[in-house]
Amino acid sequence: MKKFPENFWWGAATSGPQSEGRFNKKHANVFDYHFEIEPEKFYQHIGPDVASNFYNSYQEDIQLMKSIGMNSVRTSIQWSRLIDDLETNTVNQEAVDFYNAVIATMISEKMTPVMNLHHFDLPVELYAKYGGWESKKIVELYVGFAEQCFKLFGDRVKYWTTHNEPMVVVEGEYLFQFHYPNIVDGKKAVQVAYNLNLASAKAIQAFRRLNIPEAKIGTILNLTPTYAASDSKEDQEAARIAELWNNNLFLEPAVHGTFPSELEELLTQDKVLWEGSAEEKEVIKNNTVDFLGVNFYHPNRVKAPDLAPNSVGEWLPNRYYDAYDMPGRRVNLDRGWEIYPKALYDIAINIKENYKNIPWYVSENGMGVSNEDRFKNSEGIIEDEYRIAFVTEHLEWLYQGIEEGSNCFGYHMWTPIDCWSWLNAYKNRYGFISNNIHTQIKTVKQSGYWFKEVAKRNGLKE
Ligand code: BG6
Repeated sequence: MKKFPENFWWGAATSGPQSEGRFNKKHANVFDYHFEIEPEKFYQHIGPDVASNFYNSYQEDIQLMKSIGMNSVRTSIQWSRLIDDLETNTVNQEAVDFYNAVIATMISEKMTPVMNLHHFDLPVELYAKYGGWESKKIVELYVGFAEQCFKLFGDRVKYWTTHNEPMVVVEGEYLFQFHYPNIVDGKKAVQVAYNLNLASAKAIQAFRRLNIPEAKIGTILNLTPTYAASDSKEDQEAARIAELWNNNLFLEPAVHGTFPSELEELLTQDKVLWEGSAEEKEVIKNNTVDFLGVNFYHPNRVKAPDLAPNSVGEWLPNRYYDAYDMPGRRVNLDRGWEIYPKALYDIAINIKENYKNIPWYVSENGMGVSNEDRFKNSEGIIEDEYRIAFVTEHLEWLYQGIEEGSNCFGYHMWTPIDCWSWLNAYKNRYGFISNNIHTQIKTVKQSGYWFKEVAKRNGLKE
């Protein structure tokens, strides 16, 4: 048997904005608002209003999670729910009661809660008033919100994360137009990336000042290892820059407290470097993470760009590399993402060799498949063998990385119960547990029963 380390986390992750529903929330986040103004942009015009109804059904949902053997679970605290006055950071008592109840239920079911503080869900008023993450004012307000969370829940929550996939905020909101406000502005994107790194470090600083016994803080990054189309000098150079931008821009400050110098040089040369003070860089240097969460879905294959990088036009980071569609690649066509499990091994070794072998866990992995009802058997259970095969392959490569010394302490699936997925809404389903969004009836899939056995054995059968 392929046995995983003792006390390995077997669990899954969701987020407040994707599971709770908008019930009883005083403020709208950027997605609540985007759905209000452009519902047609969302698959089948389904927004985050109800999501998977976690706000009302958290007890049953957490029991279902327990029933499939999960020993840990991540969700997020919504800034737009917890805080009443966004300028002074006073808290909303109903929200405090709600998150207290969620945490208490997780603990009573013997699941370690992991709480994230930002899952793309900035309160939209802060975008309207200050320009969102473009502004350092938001960094300060976010730190105030984070501090409230640590004070309110830190006696019970021992694992915190500052952001989920900050790079997606940069790409979705400022480069590739898949998240509101759909801006295309490379210079702003660079500043937002810096500000998100600064916000993480400042939240960590606030956390350390509180000195909460036994509590740890990390951040969650979507790592997309880069593979060059060929060994040619040009393709290798494209891969080098893609890796600096897509991964190292967040990974290096989080773990080493510094920005990649080659990237700083490139951004300086292109006259788009962020504005940051020496004092801020000191905060980033002195407030690195205790652990890392890695979301892994797909690799990033690149080739030399068709157009010369110094072509005239708006600066965007991808002027240095083009996407490479490798012939024969395996893809989940519903999501359009390549399936390449070995990348998880490459991540494990990269962390071991280049990032202090810091403790880390797979904080998301999984596959979103549409119309899963077609796989229902006569008892109404979705037979999602493709998901079992997908997770097995990823766990095998992860196991190999751990065998070679990488310090990985857990594996979380995206997601426990089918939840709302941004613009794709409920098109692709990721859960171990299905959700009929019309009745909110939730049913364990075959993969959920399988996962329970893996968790119980703490390993994979040979
Ligand atoms: C990650 C996010 O990017 O992947 C989740 O942390 C997201 O919020 C998940 O739902 C799956 O991606 P998508 O776009 O298919 O929902």
